[in-house]
Amino acid sequence: MSAKAGVGALGALLLAVLVFLALSSWSRQPAVAQASVQPINFPHNVHVQTYKIDCQYCHADARRSEYAGLPSVTRCMGCHKITAADKPEIKKLAEYAAKREPVPWVRVFKVPEFTYFPHKPHIRAGVACQSCHGPVETMTTAAGRTGPRLVNDLLNLTGVRPAAPALTMGWCIDCHRDQNATRGAKAPLDCVTCHH
Ligand code: HEC
Ligand code: HEC
Ligand code: HEC
Ligand code: HEC
Ligand code: HEC
Repeated sequence: MSAKAGVGALGALLLAVLVFLALSSWSRQPAVAQASVQPINFPHNVHVQTYKIDCQYCHADARRSEYAGLPSVTRCMGCHKITAADKPEIKKLAEYAAKREPVPWVRVFKVPEFTYFPHKPHIRAGVACQSCHGPVETMTTAAGRTGPRLVNDLLNLTGVRPAAPALTMGWCIDCHRDQNATRGAKAPLDCVTCHH
């Protein structure tokens, strides 16, 4: 009888843990990198692979500031005043240019406000864009997979430690530890550097 009650209690406890994990991981604002519907369907693959345009030609602030930055409409029009000017997506681009308005691109990669992520030291230390953003050059729509996930939390709970999903704190710290150990980098592990 007591063995049966024990199993019942264990079941109830596991259920409580599950419900708690589900609620706690879904109720807060997670870090995101989901594909969004963009105002203009911009294909990375065409520009980077077919036409060999460098990431930093368009994301020119990455090596010198906190942000990577997005190219201005003027920069796009440098080519598209002529190139593919008859295509519907390029006509949309030309409309923004005529109105002198920036394209309202929807943000894809984002860490919560209470964290500090600067691009500059990462680019200076030679960390490739792709090691954090995935193979963007193959993408028709910039996206990634991340955020707290129930399966990941459960695996951690049972002692199997899977690689942390991109943009989570575990992901930042795993790479910092690894870079400090293998390349003699000085990537921060203290709370205040990433949270201030
Ligand atoms: C260095 C030149 C260059 C720059 C800068 C450039 N593009 Fe392009 N883009 C191209 C070329 C070349 C193509 C392929 C055109 C074709 O297949 O006819 C293309 C294709 C496209 C297409 C697909 C058109 C279609 O429907 O087939 C879109 C959308 C586009 N570009 C948007 C942009 C935007 C937005 C920017 C600025 C962020 C930009 N491009 C900057 C050269 C450029
Ligand atoms: C011709 C210009 C151009 C080139 C070259 C280019 N990008 Fe982009 N990139 C854009 C534009 C425009 C957007 C915004 C639209 C979108 O999200 O797809 C963008 C979006 C992104 C985003 C998502 C930004 C966000 O909102 O979080 C990432 C990450 C990115 N690019 C990385 C790269 C990498 C890595 C390369 C090189 C392999 C690259 N880009 C090359 C123009 C460019
Ligand atoms: C060490 C990881 C890492 C590397 C390397 C990295 N990024 Fe990022 N990137 C991020 C994170 C994290 C965010 C979200 C930052 C935020 O929310 O403040 C981001 C945001 C962005 C954005 C959107 C916001 C912005 O800063 O303008 C673009 C565009 C981008 N990255 C492009 C690039 C390009 C291009 C490269 C290579 C030259 C690159 N990134 C290298 C981690 C990285
Ligand atoms: C792919 C590896 C990698 C990932 C992922 C990564 N970093 Fe780093 N980070 C580095 C390296 C390498 C340095 C440079 C260390 C050096 O300069 O010696 C660095 C440096 C930093 C610095 C120090 C800036 C300074 O001025 O000294 C901050 C802050 C930082 N990272 C925050 C983050 C945050 C926040 C994340 C997660 C959102 C993150 N990093 C993800 C590799 C990474
Ligand atoms: C290398 C950068 C980095 C360091 C060092 C770091 N954090 Fe974080 N932390 C992050 C990022 C990025 C997030 C956002 C992750 C997410 O939303 O999944 C975060 C999230 C958090 C959260 C919110 C938890 C959650 O699940 O939303 C807390 C609390 C926190 N950190 C505390 C700390 C403390 C305490 C330390 C020192 C022991 C620390 N952090 C060190 C990058 C860092």
